[in-house]
Amino acid sequence: MGPTNLNPVTPVYPSQFTSPWRMKDGTEVTIRPVRAEDEPLMVKFHETLSDRTVYLRYFASLSLSSRTAHERLARICVSDYEHEMVLVAEYAEYRDRQTGELHILGVGRFSKLRADREAEIAVVVSDPYQHRGLGTELLRRLIHIARERKLCRIVAEMLRDNLAMQVIFRNLGFRLHLSGDSASVQAVLDL
Ligand SMILES: CC(C)(COP(=O)(O)OP(=O)(O)OC[C@H]1O[C@@H](n2cnc3c(N)ncnc32)[C@H](O)[C@@H]1OP(=O)(O)O)[C@@H](O)C(=O)NCCC(=O)NCCS
Repeated sequence: MGPTNLNPVTPVYPSQFTSPWRMKDGTEVTIRPVRAEDEPLMVKFHETLSDRTVYLRYFASLSLSSRTAHERLARICVSDYEHEMVLVAEYAEYRDRQTGELHILGVGRFSKLRADREAEIAVVVSDPYQHRGLGTELLRRLIHIARERKLCRIVAEMLRDNLAMQVIFRNLGFRLHLSGDSASVQAVLDL
C-alpha cells in the first residue's frame, strides 16, 4: 500500500464573496475573505485601533504586541473558510507608495461553535473609518454567507455600554438580552 497523504487539502479561496462597496462618505473599498498574505496588513490595521475600540472588541486592554503576535494573526489569516469566515475591507484607492500595500479598514468574522450549525460573530472597524456604515456592511455580508452555509443561528456578545453595537445588531434583526452577570449583552439571530 502506498504512503497515506496526511497533508490537509488546501482550502479553495471563496472569491465569490469578494466585491466592491462604497462607504457613506464615498470611499470605495473591496470587501473580501482574508488571505494568508494579509498578515502584515493586519498588523497595520491593529496599529490604527484606539484603546477604547480594543476594549470594546476584546473586553480587555489587549496590547498591540499580543494582538499582532504571529501565532494569533496566522490563526486568523490562514483560514479554512469553513469553520471560520473572516472578511476584510480593503481600501481600494490608497496604496502605500513604498510598499505598494493596500490598507485594511475593517475586519468581521464568524466562527462556528461546537454546535456545528451555530456561529459567533464579531466585527471591528479602524477608528478613523467608523460611522460610515462599514461595520454594518461587514455583518450583513457575514450573515448572508452564514445563510448560504445553512447555519441555523448566529450569536454575539458585547459589553453593556457598547450602544453602537447594540443598535447595529437590533437593526440587523438580532434579539438582545442581558447576560447572567449583567455585564454584557448577548445578541441572537435565528437564520
Ligand atoms: C461597533 C463598530 C464595529 C461599528 O462599526 P461602524 O462602521 O462604526 O458602524 P456603522 O457606521 O455601520 O454604524 C451603523 C449605526 O450604528 C449606530 N451607531 C454608531 N455609532 C453609535 C454610537 N456611538 N451610539 C449609538 N449608536 C451608534 C447608528 O445607528 C449607526 O447608523 P447611522 O450612522 O445611520 O446613524 C465599530 O464602532 C467598532 O469597531 N467598535 C469597536 C469594536 C466593537 O465594539 N466591536 C463589536 C464587538 S461584537
